[in-house]
Amino acid sequence: MEPVKIAENVYWVGAVDYDIRDFHGYLTPHGSTYNAFLITDKEITLVDTVRHGFEEELLSRISKIVDPTKITRVVSNHAEMDHSGSLPGIMRAIGLEKPVYASSLGVKNLAGQFQGEGLNLQTVGKDMSLGSYSLQFIETRMIHWPDSMFSFIPELGLLFSQDGFGMHYASVERFDDQFEESFWRPLALNYFANILTPYTVQISKTLEAVKKSGLLEKIKIICPDHGFIWRKDPGKIVELYGELVTQRPKKKAVIAFDTMWHSTEFMARVLADHLGSLGVETKYLSLKNHHRSQVATEAYEAAAIIVGSPTINNQMFPSIADLLCYLKSLKLKNKIGAAFGSYGWSGEGAKLVQAELSAMGYALPGSEVRYQWVPKEKDLGPLKDLAKLIADEIGKAAVS
Ligand code: FEO
Repeated sequence: MEPVKIAENVYWVGAVDYDIRDFHGYLTPHGSTYNAFLITDKEITLVDTVRHGFEEELLSRISKIVDPTKITRVVSNHAEMDHSGSLPGIMRAIGLEKPVYASSLGVKNLAGQFQGEGLNLQTVGKDMSLGSYSLQFIETRMIHWPDSMFSFIPELGLLFSQDGFGMHYASVERFDDQFEESFWRPLALNYFANILTPYTVQISKTLEAVKKSGLLEKIKIICPDHGFIWRKDPGKIVELYGELVTQRPKKKAVIAFDTMWHSTEFMARVLADHLGSLGVETKYLSLKNHHRSQVATEAYEAAAIIVGSPTINNQMFPSIADLLCYLKSLKLKNKIGAAFGSYGWSGEGAKLVQAELSAMGYALPGSEVRYQWVPKEKDLGPLKDLAKLIADEIGKAAVS
């Protein structure tokens, strides 16, 4: 396995996971990468490691540059297992006595995860000399975990940003300039929506602090722990994050639904037709063929999330409960919500969805629309009215 040179004495030595499709409940249709980096200065330093199972790939790439036992220290920017799962194995290979540096919470989390593995965990200070280069450390709590930090080589303007500015995409290419922006933007949005959405307030504060400190102008290369290395124009991905943290809604609606005998599906089609005819970009997402994380990605920039559920045994449909649980955990802001669904005799499904959307803080312009048994063309007035109400509210809330 070959390493990739990023700058003088700095190499990508990570692993490519072409096969992963379920990333803790998030669909990764293009796989992912676990990026790790080697700095061959006086202190030979490994920045982050890889998921458990990819130890040999990491060591193979390192071995093409130096004997892994020559590594003098490891810096762990983020303790989550996709970057630390191989840490015990890697430390056994390079020398268990070598220090693993992390933030104070990183030390705590790594100690909790790897009890009894004998790691020599050390808390980083503000910076560290590696010889010709140095590393500066910036705490970035909640991007993505409380332990997260960035490491910066000022002599190169090179930022190791762990989960920040990443994306899940497995490929042989390593750099942003090997792709068009129209290709990577949806991948970056998908990643942000499913990984970082709950933390937009913290991300916004971090971006502001980085801007104020003058660090932003010094950054020439960003090396995240997933996806591409940003060397052509790292400002583009920083700018995108600046937009995304605002959660400003677009003139867009997402209709996410499931169906038992096609009646709720028919209602979804009627809503989609009417919203479309009212000039609202509308995504029609059946949960029969869309994953919860695809809905979350489409919902991120949408003004309205309209959820349809039949009633089954006095409850909403299980797939809808799953979706709502997921969306609730993402804490999406500035959303208009609406519920609909068909039923046979008791009809709780749509009502429960409406109550849950309300509990999630979504603005509800109307009551849920329900049809008993099979909706008929002549009875669609309430559904068309709901579409109009939603379109009007989107018009007031959306930026475009
Ligand atoms: Fe890529 Fe939060 O781990």
